[in-house]
Amino acid sequence: MSNKIQTLSGYIYEYQRSVQDPEHFWSRVADSFFWHKRWDKVVEWNFEEPRVEWFKNAKFNITENILERHLFIMGDKPAIIWEPNDPDEPHVTLTYQQLHDEVCRFANAMKAQGIQKGDRVIIYIPMVPEAAIAMLACARIGAVHSVVFAGFSANSLSDRINDCQAKMVITSDGNFRGSKKIDVKSVVDEALETTSSIEKVIVLKRTGQEIDMKDGRDIWWHDVIEGMSKVNKAELMDAEDMLFILYTSGSTGKPKGVVHTCGGYMVYTAYSFQNVFQYNHGDVYWCTADVGWITGHSYIVYGPLLCGATTLMFEGVPTFPDPGRFWAICDKHQVNQFYTAPTAIRALQAYGTGPLEPYKLNSLRVIGSVGEPINEEAWHWYHDHVGKGRCPIVDTWWQTETGGILISPIAGVTPTKPSYATLPMPGIQPVILDNDGKELTGNSVEGNLCIKYPWPSMLRTTYGDHERCRQTYFSSFKGYYFTGDGVKRDEDGYYRILGRVDDVINVSGHRMGTAEVENAINEHPKVIESAVVGYPHDIKGQGIYAYVICDMEGRTEENLKAEIRETVNKIIGPIAKPDKIQIVPGLPKTRSGKIMRRILRKIATGETSSLGDTSTLLNPEVVEAIIEGAF
Ligand code: PRX
Repeated sequence: MSNKIQTLSGYIYEYQRSVQDPEHFWSRVADSFFWHKRWDKVVEWNFEEPRVEWFKNAKFNITENILERHLFIMGDKPAIIWEPNDPDEPHVTLTYQQLHDEVCRFANAMKAQGIQKGDRVIIYIPMVPEAAIAMLACARIGAVHSVVFAGFSANSLSDRINDCQAKMVITSDGNFRGSKKIDVKSVVDEALETTSSIEKVIVLKRTGQEIDMKDGRDIWWHDVIEGMSKVNKAELMDAEDMLFILYTSGSTGKPKGVVHTCGGYMVYTAYSFQNVFQYNHGDVYWCTADVGWITGHSYIVYGPLLCGATTLMFEGVPTFPDPGRFWAICDKHQVNQFYTAPTAIRALQAYGTGPLEPYKLNSLRVIGSVGEPINEEAWHWYHDHVGKGRCPIVDTWWQTETGGILISPIAGVTPTKPSYATLPMPGIQPVILDNDGKELTGNSVEGNLCIKYPWPSMLRTTYGDHERCRQTYFSSFKGYYFTGDGVKRDEDGYYRILGRVDDVINVSGHRMGTAEVENAINEHPKVIESAVVGYPHDIKGQGIYAYVICDMEGRTEENLKAEIRETVNKIIGPIAKPDKIQIVPGLPKTRSGKIMRRILRKIATGETSSLGDTSTLLNPEVVEAIIEGAF
């Protein structure tokens, strides 16, 4: 691809062009892809309905742009390097040719199992190359994939299956994670007890553990591809056909199915990958995310592979067999670009620099951060000890809904500043609005982060509920996409993300709706009411603090807290387990019965001297009782 920005003046020039004439800008970027039929119109949009269409009526298949487009000159180049959980197990390399063959075989197998264009397919699988193969095979035949993070519970999985009425689940027997072997298939079995749309389950053998296989429904991956051809004619897709659904938390209880479409997502993920990370032919790029999150979709699978990059996938965890594992992998595979989350950096920082000492890390050129604000201390540690002071940090701000990175330095081009995402990517027009919707122009301002012009990889709808999409993202500030984040633009025009301004908490870079956690807590039979807030946590960024009103009869406080944690674990998954639970006599409420979370947040943070006016509360006395119980 030839759209690479290499200098700061080049960035400024590209940015200006992208804003002055977005259609011309994006059509030039899109021209480097392979289309069977070109678009009639680059973009059509209004943020009222909302309706956003990019590259209208263009026909193509995203996998031809990943596979066929690269085979001729790069067939032997590694596409995926897979590093297993256990360092003694050999790693696996799949060249572009091999990836092509595996995707085609699996695509043919899925078709043979009755999957057709438009069908929804759930992928609930650990970090193995087959996860990427399954995603691409779906895209190849026009099926819509919805990857569910394999740490989610049976209940979360069945909710997602039911919401999108999926026909197939692709999964594994189990999962290796650090020193643990984790059940995967049995979670699927449990989820399928409360769903009725699934016809087939394809099971990859990974751990070899004993599992149940249901006759007529469950088939092994290795059996299903047996005898399948390596030739598959890609389904012709419209640019606006659905590529995938990815569920994410919002401020209300039910996860939203964020919908991304084929054309714009392809153009933007490739463009942003190439520029942000400054990938050069022959480099090895590694993003430590899980494919179950948007980061894994856009920057392990689609973005890198669209650029013909070598993308590394890691099955394990940063601390197994020891806290030097990330660095061992960087040296072993001579990683050039390394992309991780602040929570991982902070967790490793806690071990000091000892675990880094045996490693050279001299192949690294760019190091990245994503998922949550990176605090200055972690930024400096990452910069000095991992990047050895010579690798630019790309602090990339974006969301499941944005599909790709919107605000970030371009590595080596944009001067960085600790904990700043710096400047918008070309084509991205951020604005800061005050709570009344007035745009705050100029520098040194702070407010709600909105985007005023569409970009190719933005969400199109929330699956099966377009009104929810409108309400959530396009109704708070008329005519704008609202991100839910607070932001500051400093005196240099640099953006610093301040965190969520809605009821979403960010735990270790994982988004969690407070209402979602509350609903799970309330499922415990002894719980009367609960309120959940975030509070600063040294490693996780934010922790989950739950205030719970309970019927204590027959339980000790400790028992009850353990049971509540287990309830949340069962309903959502281990990532949503509250870090702190406080049993309270009541919750502070307004006269209209709304819980005053502002007060609960302050108490959780220990800022009890600045609670503000509590006299308007229905039950001001409860605040004192909560403060007393908190310490
Ligand atoms: O609050 C922002 C935070 O993560 C949210 C999006 O979460 P999710 O959809 O799970 O996607 C995470 C990976 C793209 C945002 O609304 N966030 C993401 N990146 C950053 C960030 N906060 C600060 N700095 C970042 N670089």
